[in-house]
Amino acid sequence: MSEKENEKGYLLKLAERRKTVREFSKNDVSLKDILYAINVARQAPSGANKQPWRFIIIRENNKKELIRKKCEEIERKFHDRAPEWMKKWMSERNITWKKPFLTEAPYLVFVFADITAPMAVQSVWLAIGYLLLALEEKELSTVTYTPSEIKWANELLNVPNNYRLQAILPIGKIRKGYNYKKQPRLPLDKILFYEQYKE
Ligand SMILES: Cc1cc2nc3c(=O)[nH]c(=O)nc-3n(C[C@H](O)[C@H](O)[C@H](O)COP(=O)(O)O)c2cc1C
Repeated sequence: MSEKENEKGYLLKLAERRKTVREFSKNDVSLKDILYAINVARQAPSGANKQPWRFIIIRENNKKELIRKKCEEIERKFHDRAPEWMKKWMSERNITWKKPFLTEAPYLVFVFADITAPMAVQSVWLAIGYLLLALEEKELSTVTYTPSEIKWANELLNVPNNYRLQAILPIGKIRKGYNYKKQPRLPLDKILFYEQYKE
């Protein structure tokens, strides 16, 4: 069955429409919509049903400023030592060490995984996948931002050490005029095989 023959149901439409957004408008968004997305996320399956996800919603401007400052410090180091291909990939997409989305988005959602649970990281990322589609349903945008250092987040937010930061999701409305395109997807026949792998 080709991609075109595949009937476009609600989920496929949402999944196709969703894209990473790194610039947000200053307009506020409803906390109710974010809670809705987290409610969807917690329906995800998890190893031994341990539900190892924990979410922290950040709204205070002072805290967002602090988080941005910390992340930009980390990113400066990361960008300096990133492999050449990644530097090129990032610069073509205007991704720098600067992370204005951490103060521009009305909400930040920190997602932690309880690493004592089986398959904790896999489970939490499944939940993040659910969350992204739920945000799309509510016409909210985000970027799954994954800073390369994470311990500071436990200290800042008073999170016990068995939890490890997986992603920071700045959530808001897309900035008007933001024209960064969704990245292309490989065609089905490059990623899907029947019975055995074929080049
Ligand atoms: C596990 C994971 C980590 C990511 N980390 C970052 C990140 O740290 N910073 C960032 O700007 N984008 C990050 N992204 C976003 C990807 O770059 C983006 O999803 C990808 O380029 C495809 O673009 P699209 O989401 O618009 O289709 C991450 C995505 C995933 C799934």
